[in-house]
Parts: sequence; C-alpha cells; structure tokens
Amino acid sequence: MKGIILAGGTGTRLYPLTLTVNKQLMPVYNKPMIYYPLSVLMLAGIREILIISTPNSLPLFQQLFGDGRQWGLQFSYMEQPHPGGVAEAFILGRSFLDGEPACLVLGDNILYGDGLGGLLQQAARLQQGALIFGYQVSNPQNYGVIEFDQAGRVLDFEEKPEFPKSHYAIPGIYFYDSQVCDLAATLTPSARGELEITDLNRCYLNRGQLQVEVFGRGFAWLDTGTHESLHQASSFIQSLEERQGLKIACVEEIAYQRGYISSEQLHRLAEPLAKSDYGSYLMQLVNGNTYQTIPARVPVLEAI
Ligand code: G1P
Repeated sequence: MKGIILAGGTGTRLYPLTLTVNKQLMPVYNKPMIYYPLSVLMLAGIREILIISTPNSLPLFQQLFGDGRQWGLQFSYMEQPHPGGVAEAFILGRSFLDGEPACLVLGDNILYGDGLGGLLQQAARLQQGALIFGYQVSNPQNYGVIEFDQAGRVLDFEEKPEFPKSHYAIPGIYFYDSQVCDLAATLTPSARGELEITDLNRCYLNRGQLQVEVFGRGFAWLDTGTHESLHQASSFIQSLEERQGLKIACVEEIAYQRGYISSEQLHRLAEPLAKSDYGSYLMQLVNGNTYQTIPARVPVLEAI
C-alpha cells in the first residue's frame, strides 16, 4: 500500500498565520503539523509517500523532507494547482499509485491513541473496498458526517451539513483499494467546486464495499483549523509528551524503531537538532538512554 498526504489549501481560518506559510508547516507544539499525519502513515507501515501541495508550498516540503531516504522512506511530490477538493488527490496521484491500494491522510489531521499503530497496520492490509473511520465530535457540521440507521448501519454521508444527522464525523484518514483512481475519475465537482471525498466514499458505500470503524472515546482526533483548535492541539501534545517523557509523532524515532535506519543514521539526524529538546530526545534514543518500556497490558481489565 502507498500513502498520500494532502497538504494543500489556503488555511484562511488561520489568517494572518497562514498568509505566507502553509498551514501544514505551522507548529503543533514542537514539530511541523505534517509530522503528525506522516507518522500515521509510518505507523501503518507505509513507506512510499506522495506529498501533494500548492505550487508555492511544495518546494518547502521538498526542503523539509527531501527524498525521504534519511528516514528510510521514499517521497514523491505533486502540485495541486487549484484547491480542487480532497478526492482530487486520486486524480493527481494516479501515476504515483500505479494501481496499488492507497491510504490518504490529510496534512492537518492529528490522530493519537493507544493501539493506533496496530489498528493502522491492519487497515493497511486492505486489498478490496474501502475503510474509513467515524469519531464522535461536538461540532459535526464542520466535517463529513455519517448517517446511521437505528441498527447502527451506515446509510449515507453528508459533507458539512447544516443539520447533521449524527455526531459522528469522518476523520481525514482513508484506506482504498486499487479501484480508487477510476472511481475518483467518475466524480463531478460539488456546489463549492470541489471533488468531495464524501462522494468518493458514497461510491464505495453504494457498491457495498465500504467498511466504517468507529474510534472509541480513548482516541484523540484533533482539529487544527482555527486558532483555538491549533492552540488546543499544541497543549494536548505538550501535556502528554511532558507527562510521559515520550514524544508523539517523532518520525525519526518511528524510523529507528521500525529498523528503517541504524543508530548511526539516527545520530546523524540528531546532531543538527541537538540544541532543541527534540534533538536531545533523539540523542537519548541513540545512547539507549531511555526508560525501560513494558508492553501495555491490563490483564485484570481483560478478565472483566
Ligand atoms: C475534509 C473532508 C471532510 C473531513 C475533514 C477531516 O474537510 O472533506 O469530510 O471530515 O476533511 O478533517 P476539509 O476540512 O478539508 O474541508
């Protein structure tokens, strides 16, 4: 499976922050926002990744990530000349995907939760149909929303409805089989002139090929679209990282733990960052100077 990160958009709700800087390069506490969706793809075990962004911002992502070799990854880049919608990723990404299944993740989505890595790895084995997620939010009107029947079966989706039919929003992470580019090619632009991911998901639903999994209350799916939510996301990450002494979405750490890079390579990556807390964390990893980690398991609870 290959991955796509869509990191376009104008970020108008974050003005003046995003007047000159791409939203996905904004800091979420101690790292650029795009590290979070990138770490999600890495946790899923995906190593071939296409970054799609605006003509202005794409060179900045190329500067930040290069070809990905330093992290044991392989990055490709593609311009999205106009904001044509999330599903346009599969028009632009057709030759990159070259008939392989895909995981699309939006560059401004932050996902966090115990067990997320295992769940994502399982999702990345998808060969047929599509898999998307639902997450309960208090403001569903800002997202794609799932409509369920009384038995909890998925009936339909609506993009940013004025009167949402449930409180389950669809996070910006989607797994699709190899039909995805052909199905995306059948979509027509919505009233706001975009190829909607909601319409693509409806295609799969109508074919009886869509699976929806719900993230439970122990998961965090954070928004970063407004000044308040961006600040809250930073605070959330800061609180957890400081409490546990572990970094979230530390791409170098994931690459190292997965065996994509050696400790010598990790050392080379850490050196130029050493003056920051992030860099000294990497140095600790290199030196094996970390806390003893015991796999998380609560047998008492399992028995209940
Ligand atoms: C997009 C999708 C929406 C989804 C959201 C998640 O909306 O269209 O269905 O719920 O991402 O972040 P956007 O915020 O890009 O308008």
